[in-house]
Amino acid sequence: MTAANVKTPVLIVDDDPAMRSALRQWLGLAGFETIEVSDADTAMRHVQPSFPGCVVSDVMLNGDDGVRLMKRIAEIDADIPVILITGHGDVPMAVEAMRSGAYDFVEKPFDPEVIAELVRRACEKRSLVLENRSLSRRLVEEGSLERRLLGNSPAMRALRERLLHFAGTDAAVLITGETGTGKEVVAQALHAFGHRKDAPFVAINAAALPETMVEAELFGHEAGAFTGADRTRIGRIEAANGGVLFLDEIVSMPIPLQPKLLRVLQEKCVDRIGGRRPVPVDFRVVSAANIEPKEAVAAKTLREDLLFRLNTIEITIPALRERGNDSLLLFDTFINRFAAQYGIPMPDVTARDEAFLRTYDWPGNVRELRNAAERFVLNAGVGRQPLEVLVIGPGHKVSDIAGGTLKDLMDSYERSVISNALRRHEGRIAEVMRELGVPRRTLNEKMTRLKLSRPQVMGDE
Ligand SMILES: Nc1ncnc2c1ncn2[C@@H]1O[C@H](COP(=O)(O)OP(=O)(O)OP(=O)(O)O)[C@@H](O)[C@H]1O
Ligand SMILES: [Mg+2]
Repeated sequence: MTAANVKTPVLIVDDDPAMRSALRQWLGLAGFETIEVSDADTAMRHVQPSFPGCVVSDVMLNGDDGVRLMKRIAEIDADIPVILITGHGDVPMAVEAMRSGAYDFVEKPFDPEVIAELVRRACEKRSLVLENRSLSRRLVEEGSLERRLLGNSPAMRALRERLLHFAGTDAAVLITGETGTGKEVVAQALHAFGHRKDAPFVAINAAALPETMVEAELFGHEAGAFTGADRTRIGRIEAANGGVLFLDEIVSMPIPLQPKLLRVLQEKCVDRIGGRRPVPVDFRVVSAANIEPKEAVAAKTLREDLLFRLNTIEITIPALRERGNDSLLLFDTFINRFAAQYGIPMPDVTARDEAFLRTYDWPGNVRELRNAAERFVLNAGVGRQPLEVLVIGPGHKVSDIAGGTLKDLMDSYERSVISNALRRHEGRIAEVMRELGVPRRTLNEKMTRLKLSRPQVMGDE
């Protein structure tokens, strides 16, 4: 990343000190930052794939030559522009340089203005190349994130964008959302798309660990720290060194553990049980909660100081019922995947199944829908059942979307769509009109015909 106020570097390679200092002065005046070296090997130490500037090199380098250096640079990144300085009248050399991919060449002696202009153009070209690269990398990333975190709704699109943005930072992220909304998927994506992707992702659900073992598990212990600790073992926090530590369900974390964890986050070091001195650790912390963490603070089950260490950035995942038609897309993708996995033909999704997908509340969110998709695929071969029976069970009343004439089915479908939208927008008619794209009069007529009233939908009646 090149900030606007950072000068573009120009790597000067010349074994003649007088020439180096002249180039430094000219290019410095033209607004570039110069790095001067006298030989090819030293030059190569400065060349990396993302080198943001260009290289100016003499073709004659003490026992080496500029064209060879240029080829070595091209192996690292073929788009780093190299400008070669050739001796006066050395036409064959200049031709070879251009043929081997030099950006341009200048003949000695040269006008400082000429070289400054060449460098300016080379650096501009370089910055365009780097910009294009980062754009296409972003497109690839967005594509692969979309496959992990499916959804076309505006909420999910915005969430993916936010996620990619914060993946590039080390900020502490707190992910909130109902059960099954994809908190773990988001946590893993923050790791996979961040610069710590090659280091471990370690998930800890402190509430799920037996109380007697939780500290040893998290902080590790030295040999002989307690009975049974026959050798030193590093804890899970240390195992996350260099990578991402994912603290799942922080609102259920045992109270006595919280100050200890806070200390780890503040000091960035771990005290192994029985250890003499703290061990430094470096990780990014990501955490998740399926209830509003501030409520847990009010209920005194979560320490406020710990929460403040965790929620620099908050990512809230919407419930599935708030994601419009995403349920259809998700279901379709899941049945595709399960059908392929089990080697079963893709079952048909009927209009009735679709109506159910759209209107059911999905309290278990994506996890519930995914399980439903799996059952749907597995049941397809053995007397196919409507999706609602698989999800809600045969014992439940599903008359809302049960069989009937087309008109009955349409009515019940409309009724569910409108009442769900009303609930989603907490009864605000204007927002329901906007979402469903119907004028007020039509909405009123429909509600009267379908015997829907706002208070009844909102449960105030
Ligand atoms: N947008 C999505 N696209 C594809 N799969 C998803 C998506 N969201 C969640 N899933 C899948 O749904 C299941 C539940 O997701 P996950 O475990 O991340 O939920 P969670 O929010 O951590 O749930 P809990 O609060 O119960 O721990 C997983 O199988 C996950 O792969
Ligand atoms: Mg989870």
